[in-house]
Amino acid sequence: MDIKIITMSVIVGLSTVTAIGMNTTENFNTMAENNVGWTLGDVNNDGWVNAVDSSIVLMEYSNLSTHGGTFTEEQKKVADVNGDGWINAVDASNILSYYAYCSTGGTISFSEWMKNPEEITTTTTTIATTVTTSTTVSGYVVSTDNSSSSTQTTSTVSSVETTTTTTSTVQKISEIKLTKYDINLKVGEKDISYVTMLPESVANKDEIWTSSDEKVATVDKWGNITGIADGKCIVTVTSVDNPEVKADIKVTVGEPSTENKITEIKLSKTEMNLEVGKKDISYVTMIPDNVENKDEIWTSSDEKIATVDRWGNVTAVSDGTCTITVTSVDNPKVKADIKVTVGKPSTTENKITEIKLSKTEMNLNIGEKDISYVTMLPESVANKDEIWTSSDEKIATVDKWGNVTAVSAGTCTVTVTSVDNSEVKADIKVTIKEKSDFQQLNGLTYINGILIANKSYSLPSTYDPGMDITTIKQFGELSNAAAKDGINIYLSSGYRSYSYQNTIYNNYVSWYGKASADTFSARAGHSEHQTGLAIDVNTIDDSFADTPEAEWLEKHAHEYGFIIRYPKGKESITGYKYEPWHIRYLGVEKATDVYNSGLTLEEYLGIDSYYH
Ligand code: DAL
Ligand code: ZN
Repeated sequence: MDIKIITMSVIVGLSTVTAIGMNTTENFNTMAENNVGWTLGDVNNDGWVNAVDSSIVLMEYSNLSTHGGTFTEEQKKVADVNGDGWINAVDASNILSYYAYCSTGGTISFSEWMKNPEEITTTTTTIATTVTTSTTVSGYVVSTDNSSSSTQTTSTVSSVETTTTTTSTVQKISEIKLTKYDINLKVGEKDISYVTMLPESVANKDEIWTSSDEKVATVDKWGNITGIADGKCIVTVTSVDNPEVKADIKVTVGEPSTENKITEIKLSKTEMNLEVGKKDISYVTMIPDNVENKDEIWTSSDEKIATVDRWGNVTAVSDGTCTITVTSVDNPKVKADIKVTVGKPSTTENKITEIKLSKTEMNLNIGEKDISYVTMLPESVANKDEIWTSSDEKIATVDKWGNVTAVSAGTCTVTVTSVDNSEVKADIKVTIKEKSDFQQLNGLTYINGILIANKSYSLPSTYDPGMDITTIKQFGELSNAAAKDGINIYLSSGYRSYSYQNTIYNNYVSWYGKASADTFSARAGHSEHQTGLAIDVNTIDDSFADTPEAEWLEKHAHEYGFIIRYPKGKESITGYKYEPWHIRYLGVEKATDVYNSGLTLEEYLGIDSYYH
């Protein structure tokens, strides 16, 4: 049994031994010998004398020489195993040697073994250092190693001067160093941990390699470790020269668990639009948070376009696009990209996105002009230039300011396009009516053969045709058809003479005032009722609206030659409020044409309606 050279490097080696020993602790640790609770060598008083105690003694030895030590009186007694009055590396070595003795089947107590350790051990080893100074600490003498006797440690406070000088030769391997103590392999993969046998001077540096579980990993005589199946095992290298000296490698076979791996990278931005020379950064969150290694690797797909430094700072170099990628060091499969565009920003932020028009429909007579005012949005865009085009310049032309001119009858589309963003357009539906056949006869106005009575065009006070025969006949047809659909439509007011209209209108003026009366009642000479071509049906008030009768009338009146003369929402054009009950006879063809156009009669004929 050897006594080890006690140096710090030995401590490393011994720690390895401790790890092995733990597997079989019960077999070779020695129990407390006395009954007072503290046993020689058992400095942590855990009931065992082992490598842990040796390490604690060594630490105390180090503490004593620097800042006085931490042992209790009991610990001091059991730590000085050779009873020489010193707590030092010799005691630590003795503890270890005894531990090794027990591990190979030794049974005698520590105090017995200490009486003659040389007899029991086979080799003599001595401390290779020269102990030159000593310090008394709490009554115990602690030696302080110093390789040169001429340089004394200045901190030494000597009350008991002791000088011990022993010399010996190392004959056995005392330590094995490895390049790796942890190996992770996939099934079928190989790895190796290189061995250094110490001290160098020992000739026999042969190794024996073993695996604690060959079903998990095998190891050959050169130390090549091969993963066999998922699991964990210990691969051990043992010195042939000194089989007590071993070193362990923790081997894990299988896919590394993703539990403690980075699984996702979140970025504060995934797109950057930069001008040349500008910088930007996207902040990284590595997920999950409990993974220690949150290191990043930043790369650029094209450093001519944009570079990125190791902290993720992106710098625009020249016009173009590239991808900046951040990769997890912990799990290189996990990446996140930033799309970088260098040059003019491509976002719509600084582009026109919408064109608003003051009107989207125009109904013009040949030769008429109109304009629809433009609002380019957003306001912040400098370039609000417009391009105006007509889908058919034979119907309507448009100049560069948006002035539309009616050329001939028909429909076309006038379009305004943003110069800034040619994808953004707005249309105007332009309808040009046939040149009206305008006739005035005996004070009556006919346009395209239609007798007009509205606020603009009046009838003579003498015009007194009575109810129009065709109108009455067609109304009869309408009423019959409605009846077949279960709808009762009946005449409430037909022909009204000039004087009768005058009475009605003046009554309304006296009740509601002129301005109000003018919104729903025609002044004498301006009422359609005086033409004999208009009929008010059913209940002549707002309650008629939304009735099944009003609905039926709106849907079918044109089939019998009638139009709803004052439609909803067209007050400013017809001059009157919505009158769902007032129908005007035009003949089936014209009524159907007006119905299909969706226009009022004024719009259809290109006339207005206001009191001049
Ligand atoms: N109520 C319509 C407008 C008229 O008085 O003729
Ligand atoms: Zn009426």
